[in-house]
Amino acid sequence: MVTVTPIHADFVAEIGGVDISRPLAPAEWQAVEQAFDRYAVLVFHGQKLTEAQQLAFAERFGPLERSIGTYVYGVGKRRRLERPELSDISNLDEDGAVIARDDERRLINISNQLWHTDSSFKKTPAKMSMLSAQEVPPEGGETEFADMRAVWDALPAARQRALEGLVAEHDYYYSRSLTGFDASTIPPERRALTPPVPQVLVRTHPVTGRKSLYLAAHIKRIYGMDEVASRALIDELMALATEPRFVHQHKWKADDVVMWDNRCTMHRGRPFDERSRRSMRRATVSDIGPTVAADWRPPA
Ligand SMILES: [Fe+2]
Repeated sequence: MVTVTPIHADFVAEIGGVDISRPLAPAEWQAVEQAFDRYAVLVFHGQKLTEAQQLAFAERFGPLERSIGTYVYGVGKRRRLERPELSDISNLDEDGAVIARDDERRLINISNQLWHTDSSFKKTPAKMSMLSAQEVPPEGGETEFADMRAVWDALPAARQRALEGLVAEHDYYYSRSLTGFDASTIPPERRALTPPVPQVLVRTHPVTGRKSLYLAAHIKRIYGMDEVASRALIDELMALATEPRFVHQHKWKADDVVMWDNRCTMHRGRPFDERSRRSMRRATVSDIGPTVAADWRPPA
């Protein structure tokens, strides 16, 4: 029997009574799916998953993304993980040893410590991400989540009206630049695979109908606004959205699995002593399409 134990009113629930390494019975599946729509972040403990088992569970939510680490950087290099659909959220190299501080993989992954939602730099962004922990550092390295539905609900109606209809430019290399990654090390033809994309600033959840702000460190600007006003607005909304009242912190244990709805949450990784080993992998499921209408064009 699947148990659902909420941590906040409608945000973050612990799921028990189910072994997600095996195919779920229809009733179990339904319980997990309903909890996912309602709580947006689900925590499972004691789930030892192989790569294949993790992907099989994630795939029930939609088509799997391919990890950007397999087609933008590190192309042709041997990876620690076998399956290209899994992103390596570890500090380990292909042989399982702790990577150096100046390793490209570390410099790219460190941007995960900025508040973001996964793959909003893609035309069709991510619907769901599922992170599974094999080894965790003794302290630090938590993941924090922000409930972007609650943030929206907290805005005055006039403010909500002013934000609806705005479209932001999300750029993978913008967020990388914030942590000092030099994009010129990536060949132009690979950089061209992740061009800046438009995303609406206010989203409506397709199942619950709840609205939420769609923010991320990937946002470079708001279309139709001058740079100063655009940056001021993004910074203000980011500061509001990450106030402690909207945030939940997950402290990892080995064999934890956490899955979240990227359409209505943000998250960030917290720092840890990188001499400690951390082994985690993420499966990511695509949304059904772009957030902007097919005929949307940037304002002149
Ligand atoms: Fe992420």
